Amino acid sequence: MTNKNTRKYKRHTVTAALPYANGPIHIGHLAGVYVPADIYTRYLRMKGEDVVFICGSDEHGVPITIKARQEGITPQQVVDKYHTLIKDSFREFGISFDVYSRTSAPIHHETAAGIFKTLSDKNAFIEKETEQYYDEENRQFLADRYITGTCPHCGYEKAYGDQCENCGTSLSPTDLINPKSTLSGNKPVMKKTRHWYLPLGNYEKMLRHWILDSHKEDWKPNVYGQCKSWIDQGLQPRAVTRDLDWGVKLPLENTEGKVLYVWFDAPIGYISATREWAMKTGNDWKKYWQDPDSKLVHFIGKDNIVFHCIIFPVMLHAEGSYILPDNVPANEFLNLEGDKISTSRNWAVWLHSFLEDFPGKQDVLRYVLCAAAPETKDNDFTWKDLQARNNNELLAVLGNFVNRTLVLTHKYYDGKVPEIIDPADADLKTLESIKDFPSVIGDNIEKYRFREALSQMMNLARLGNRYLTENEPWKLIREEPEKVKTIINVSLQICASLAVLSTPFLPFTAQKLQSMLNISVKDWQDGGDTNFLPPGHTINKPELLFEKIEDAQIQLQVDRLLQTRQDNNTGNDHVPYKEAIDFDDFSKLDIRIATVRNAEKVPKTKKLMKLIIDAGSGEFTIVSGIAEHYQPETITGRKVLWLANLKPRKIKGIESHGMLLMAENNEGKLVFLTPEKDIEDGSIVC
Ligand code: 2FM
Ligand code: ZN
Repeated sequence: MTNKNTRKYKRHTVTAALPYANGPIHIGHLAGVYVPADIYTRYLRMKGEDVVFICGSDEHGVPITIKARQEGITPQQVVDKYHTLIKDSFREFGISFDVYSRTSAPIHHETAAGIFKTLSDKNAFIEKETEQYYDEENRQFLADRYITGTCPHCGYEKAYGDQCENCGTSLSPTDLINPKSTLSGNKPVMKKTRHWYLPLGNYEKMLRHWILDSHKEDWKPNVYGQCKSWIDQGLQPRAVTRDLDWGVKLPLENTEGKVLYVWFDAPIGYISATREWAMKTGNDWKKYWQDPDSKLVHFIGKDNIVFHCIIFPVMLHAEGSYILPDNVPANEFLNLEGDKISTSRNWAVWLHSFLEDFPGKQDVLRYVLCAAAPETKDNDFTWKDLQARNNNELLAVLGNFVNRTLVLTHKYYDGKVPEIIDPADADLKTLESIKDFPSVIGDNIEKYRFREALSQMMNLARLGNRYLTENEPWKLIREEPEKVKTIINVSLQICASLAVLSTPFLPFTAQKLQSMLNISVKDWQDGGDTNFLPPGHTINKPELLFEKIEDAQIQLQVDRLLQTRQDNNTGNDHVPYKEAIDFDDFSKLDIRIATVRNAEKVPKTKKLMKLIIDAGSGEFTIVSGIAEHYQPETITGRKVLWLANLKPRKIKGIESHGMLLMAENNEGKLVFLTPEKDIEDGSIVC
């Protein structure tokens, strides 16, 4: 497994994106980041390279504080729970990190604050004072997700400070009409606050040279393309601090209540984790981060590209002592049964559930996720595909070939490797072709083409299967016993190569196969690519490498997803009930029957409609977000439910009195609630 065309480095620093500690790991994470990173690292270790494989939990950021509030626990309790779950499931799945750390660890706070301080001392930041929303009751500046209000584009009343989830528009908190703090429910006030910004534009020349001039050939087109477009669009200063009480505190005087932005501290987590590992193992962490003879590679998903290719490198460059990544092989996304994986909709295959439901089948999932990895485009995972790949590829090709060879070795030779006697051309050709596989597989891995590497490994098993089937040793054993010795020897050499070459992809299977053959990767490293299984060597008893996956097991998983889909469609369990209120609260609502007298679209808006309603006692104007659901002419004359005592407010310059009550169906369509019988306008709904 060698690659002759690339620069020789002294050591390798391999990082895998730090997962957020606010949810478990799913197959999308695995296929995009952790499986390829683990294959790459195991391959390097097999080559005898000096490598450190780094990961840990990303434990800061606003979503974690929001989850803590929702669950009535502390952010530390949230991250403790998920850190343990994630760490344990990675270990069981065979992701072979040298260290799995976490960003709430003191060593990380110290490292991140240290790098910030160095940059600050070097005047690498600009400081700016801006006005931001502040909750006076909680004495807190409000992160975007802590502010809700009415979307100025569609009138949706629960838009967030950074986005309206109804119309999808990106917002800033000051765009919201009637902003509200989600902490107190109060209207926030504007207050001056100071923040630190990294002026990315100052590094444009460096980035152009380093990425655009030097990495056009070796970086994946999706990664290179995203970087180019960021750089070409003009790099703006990025705020690297936040007003929050959860995160790494700023190491500067008079900065109470300020922490590093999560995307500033998270990638530094790779460095902190390396320090933690070095302390435990007596290594020098600096060599892995500061020596230009170290090759740094970041495995990430495509949504992390800008942070790893632009912002983090700028931080490291500005600091001055660090190397920059040699490559950032970001993958696209994996879908599940045709739909985007979604944590909130529970549309995922969770790693910890898979490990429970399919004990001992880690390699099956690793195989499927590598074979269907979203390397160049988004890809789809299906349970049927997992079953087919297990039954028709792992079991029928790899498992079957190994089993036939080992059983015959025991049957004919009492488990001892026979000699090669007078080989035919076909035998020699087969022996010769085994030698090509290590470098073909190695070259592909070094170019981050893991699917192709895996498929080559399986081609070796196919070659073995074919060789055995074509030569039919079971038919020759009586007439031509010498020939059978050669056939079994050649087949065993293929098994031995498979035992080694499958290690990065299928570590559990490779280990089993090595034990069965009574060999180790070390023998292979010492003895060269082939013939490390000499005649006379005794092998152990074979056991099955793979088991058939039955329809019923797959159906169970498919049914579970169908149930999830149904729950999502009917809204079961997924829109939680609001907290209980007293009858007094309810009785404050004044809901009446009214008739729409006139309806017209509000110009220059997509969703808003201006309605004149007749409430019996008089006419009122309402601005309502229904223009995408109904044509004005279909509304006139309709009886509606009207919330009469909502305080009047101006929307798009029109004073709106109260609101219409509508119901929203599964597809988000609004429908009117019309009284069963004709009833006079002004009637009270109670
Ligand atoms: O997207 C994510 O899941 C982030 N937690 C990745 C962080 S990678 C690194 F910068 F730490
Ligand atoms: Zn909107």
